[in-house]
Amino acid sequence: MKIILAIIALGFFGFLLGKLIKHKSLYPFMPFRYDFRKRRDSFRKTMELLDKISAKTIIETGTSREGLRGAKSNGAATIVFGKWAKQNNAFLHSVDISEKSVAKCQEEINNQNLNEVVKVHLSDSVAFLDNFEEKVDFIYLDSYDYDDDPAVQIKSQKHHLKEFIAIEDNLHSDSIVLIDDCDLPNGGKGKLVVDYMLKKDWKILINEYQILLVRKNFSF
Ligand SMILES: C[S@@+](CC[C@H](N)C(=O)[O-])C[C@H]1O[C@@H](n2cnc3c(N)ncnc32)[C@H](O)[C@@H]1O
Repeated sequence: MKIILAIIALGFFGFLLGKLIKHKSLYPFMPFRYDFRKRRDSFRKTMELLDKISAKTIIETGTSREGLRGAKSNGAATIVFGKWAKQNNAFLHSVDISEKSVAKCQEEINNQNLNEVVKVHLSDSVAFLDNFEEKVDFIYLDSYDYDDDPAVQIKSQKHHLKEFIAIEDNLHSDSIVLIDDCDLPNGGKGKLVVDYMLKKDWKILINEYQILLVRKNFSF
């Protein structure tokens, strides 16, 4: 009987340990319970770079439609980078074409008290970026959803390329670009935009689920 109980206890302990190892929090920056999983390390590195360049203007395409609850699935980047903006006297513009996504994200922005540093714009991202006039320190590309359908994949990849081209002239020598959902069949959201950037003066710093790029002559 004792042996059986010991085996059950060990199994349970192993299960908990497995969960803990998989859990990738951004603690202490974000509460420990939020699991950023495949984006945790690239978010962390991005924020290190944002610190270094003293970023002031940030844009995200595709807003956090599930608020912080979506940390593991969608990334919850509006809240992560919004919180970074609040702590660093910066401003985040997040743009989304869906009224529902904008409303859901706005709820979380209110909950997190980020209204002074985050504005969610209801617009097609390319149209928004085309009209954006300020210099941009960091742009996070994560709009047009990517799925298993090859036709959708191409549309998503073309859309992300158009986003980059629309904002390219607003980027400076130390600007940072992060692209989500890249390590997926047929190259993910970043395929065309990364090919385009590598033909110019950009280099990859992280090539994982997310791709992080800076200029070849990035000074930090
Ligand atoms: C994956 S979610 C964004 C997740 C968010 N970045 C996060 O970290 O939680 C993709 C969002 O892109 C939006 N979207 C799709 N097409 C778009 C477009 N053409 N312009 C702007 N937003 C778009 C969708 O409405 C959806 O809310």
